[in-house]
Amino acid sequence: MAIDPSFLDELNARSDIVDVVSRYVSLKKSGSNYFGLCPFHNEKSPSFSVSQDKQIFHCFGCGVGGGVLSFIMRAEGLEFYDAVSFLAKQYGMTVPENNYDNKTSKKRERLLELMKDTARFYYSELWKPENIKVQQYFVKRGLTRKTMNRFGLGFAPDSFFATMDAMTSKGYTKDELLTCGLISKSEKGNLFDKFRNRVMFPIFDLRGNVIAFGGRVMDDSKPKYLNSPETSIFHKSRNLFAIEKARKTSKDYFILAEGYMDVIALHQAGFDSAVASLGTALTEEQARLIARYTKNIIISYDADNAGQAASQRAIDILKKSGLNVRVLRIPNAKDPDQFIKEKGADAFRRLIEQSADDIAYKLNNIASKFDLEEDQDRISFLKEASYMLSFIDSDIEREIYTSRAANMAKISTQSMMIEVKKAVEKRKQALQKQKKREVRSAVDKAQPKDKTLKYENVNSARSEEEILLVIFGDNSLIGYLNGKISSEDFTSPILKAFFVHALELYKNGKNITIPAFEGYFDPEALSLLTNITSRPMPSMREKALDDSINNIKCRQMKNTDNYNDPLLAYAKARKENIFGGNRI
Ligand code: GTP
Ligand code: MN
Repeated sequence: MAIDPSFLDELNARSDIVDVVSRYVSLKKSGSNYFGLCPFHNEKSPSFSVSQDKQIFHCFGCGVGGGVLSFIMRAEGLEFYDAVSFLAKQYGMTVPENNYDNKTSKKRERLLELMKDTARFYYSELWKPENIKVQQYFVKRGLTRKTMNRFGLGFAPDSFFATMDAMTSKGYTKDELLTCGLISKSEKGNLFDKFRNRVMFPIFDLRGNVIAFGGRVMDDSKPKYLNSPETSIFHKSRNLFAIEKARKTSKDYFILAEGYMDVIALHQAGFDSAVASLGTALTEEQARLIARYTKNIIISYDADNAGQAASQRAIDILKKSGLNVRVLRIPNAKDPDQFIKEKGADAFRRLIEQSADDIAYKLNNIASKFDLEEDQDRISFLKEASYMLSFIDSDIEREIYTSRAANMAKISTQSMMIEVKKAVEKRKQALQKQKKREVRSAVDKAQPKDKTLKYENVNSARSEEEILLVIFGDNSLIGYLNGKISSEDFTSPILKAFFVHALELYKNGKNITIPAFEGYFDPEALSLLTNITSRPMPSMREKALDDSINNIKCRQMKNTDNYNDPLLAYAKARKENIFGGNRI
């Protein structure tokens, strides 16, 4: 780790995890801990806890955990150093300049500078007099100059080297341009501009940094859009187009559109909470990102079949994040952009008002597949609708929509109810089967969630975990271990590393706590450590340590072919009972 540990101590002392987490999660106190809905996975009942005493967070559901800095890293998607500066700023502290090795952070800053300079370059190209045709492209699409500037739109000239030359002359290296995906390498190894003769849409992160570009052709050639590749600063699945603007809206809903142009047209028409995913289907991470800023989302995808199928998928993903979902249908138009251009903002506002809630939308979709005047079709509708309705958790809600579905098919509410009840039962049974399967795989649960941390020797690792648990609960017991076990006895590399760090802390007179591990281990490792040390402390601590030590040593023998050591040979003869702890 690179940041001065005493600075981190000070930061940990000044910040309070309950305070920090409360800005992201609504927490309720219960006993000595605080509870809330986990921001890192989708859940309906709270399994996310925060301990003020220990200054840790821990989710019993998905297993994430750590101190305040891991929380910031996960919640804000930041690297460790950036998380430190982010938190430090909130507490009026400045990270000491010379005491850290800020290579990765400096590198990131350079890449962000490069992206910003590239955006400026595209912008200046757009407004060159000789590119009046490009300006006219945007104007023809109904954009005002103000909107173009607000979205930082630009133009990548029709050249293989213009961007490369402009940026290298500013001092950026070709490697940096490659890393950002601004240039590509041909099979022969020649470098050339990735975006050529395209209108450019910069993509910003939450803090307003340019992290990527989308580039569109101005005619019908293919591909219509080129997007920046995944880079160290750009993750498609974690960002949303225009989120940095939408987050500042005063509206109590967001609009989710498909295309960049839709979003821009919506903003220009006053719907300043519109966002879009970045050329891929909506992800759960993006849904959670939206849920951070609003409770209500209106899906406004293209009117074509692809758009409607995508809406269905998006509904489920958005619902999982606890959002109220409505779906807007655009009559006689391709997409929101075209609709607003033809009918105006007021007409679009009426579409918002008329938008159906998610279940009504799904019911309508199912109904549209059938001719409800035909008996066979009515039966098929009834089956499909019942299945869909069986997913509604709330009894009242399910009843309301069941009766609506019955009306649609002109059958009695009663028989529809029976059908839905059957579907609910079926689902319950399926769930139970799944639970049984989960119990069967409980053995796997002894393994860390993160596969890269997998234990080779689960049995020994369990005892190694126990030792960590006990010394976390009672730091003074490190002394008790003296001469009985060393880090060399640990079979799991990660548990060994935890143990070594704990010894180091102890040696330096520091407390062995989760926050004192931050920065030395990545968030996945910290989740594991938090899980281990959040288990109940054994009541007889010394005995628990003895048993664990014995178990670890026994396992070593089992795994050893070399019985020249007389003690080991003896142990084998005693069927490994010599260290059997309570067995002797
Ligand atoms: P226009 O109105 O035609 O200018 O575009 P749009 O922004 O409305 O996009 P459209 O509805 O055609 O597509 C929705 C989104 O999918 C776009 O904003 C892009 O992010 C993405 N997309 C569309 N075409 C392509 C393509 O050819 N390649 C890639 N990678 N993404 C595309
Ligand atoms: Mn469009």
